[in-house]
Amino acid sequence: MKDDKRNYIIVVAAGSGSRYGGDLPKQFCDLRGRPLLMTTLERVHACAPDADILLVLSGSMLSFWREICSVLGFGVPFREIEGGATRAHSVRNALSVIDPATVGWIAVHDAARPMVTPEMFARLADGLPGCSGTIPVVPVTDSLRVVEPDGSSRSVDRSRLRAVQTPQLFDGKKLIRANDRELLPTFTDDASVMEAAGYTDLRLVEGDPRNIKVTNPGDMDIVELYL
Ligand code: C5P
Repeated sequence: MKDDKRNYIIVVAAGSGSRYGGDLPKQFCDLRGRPLLMTTLERVHACAPDADILLVLSGSMLSFWREICSVLGFGVPFREIEGGATRAHSVRNALSVIDPATVGWIAVHDAARPMVTPEMFARLADGLPGCSGTIPVVPVTDSLRVVEPDGSSRSVDRSRLRAVQTPQLFDGKKLIRANDRELLPTFTDDASVMEAAGYTDLRLVEGDPRNIKVTNPGDMDIVELYL
């Protein structure tokens, strides 16, 4: 029987990127003469060329983005989705156009992580059968402290902690179901939405320390070096 399941990559790019500074949100800042987002889309497309890309953008960036795609002849196919108030709402807007009856897997990826690789994607895909989702993680290298509201702080055992990256890969039907609930401000990634909905069988796979999220000034120089 023919497998008519459709797979999707949601790229969330509707944030304002306020920590990065500058006039443009970080995902539109220059990387080798064009917006960083173009590198992310090309590299994520190379990971799974048959998957449909849903690109979530804020309405205010739409005309800038369309214009620059047309000027540079950007060739990666994608469908535009309007962003929401938070990252989780942006993901939910993208999920609303997916038919649960035919969905296979769904990957969700931050636009500001251009260093995703096919090797890492393969690790996520290989780990997915038999669980609800696969999450790329890396060990934490800094020492960490928890800060209390009164300003006091204490150290924590970093050996048990992992830093979480994207793309995260999910059973599509379960991700859609998990998002059918109140979206809390603590949902900073999709694994946390899944977990809150009871899908706790998420498998951790090895991420990549180079797969950084461009967040602070200087991060773009690091990405440039890696490329
Ligand atoms: O702010 P943070 O770096 O955690 O955002 C992670 C990703 O989520 C970014 O790629 C950002 O563009 C996206 N985002 C979004 N819609 C929002 C807020 C963030 O698509 N409302």
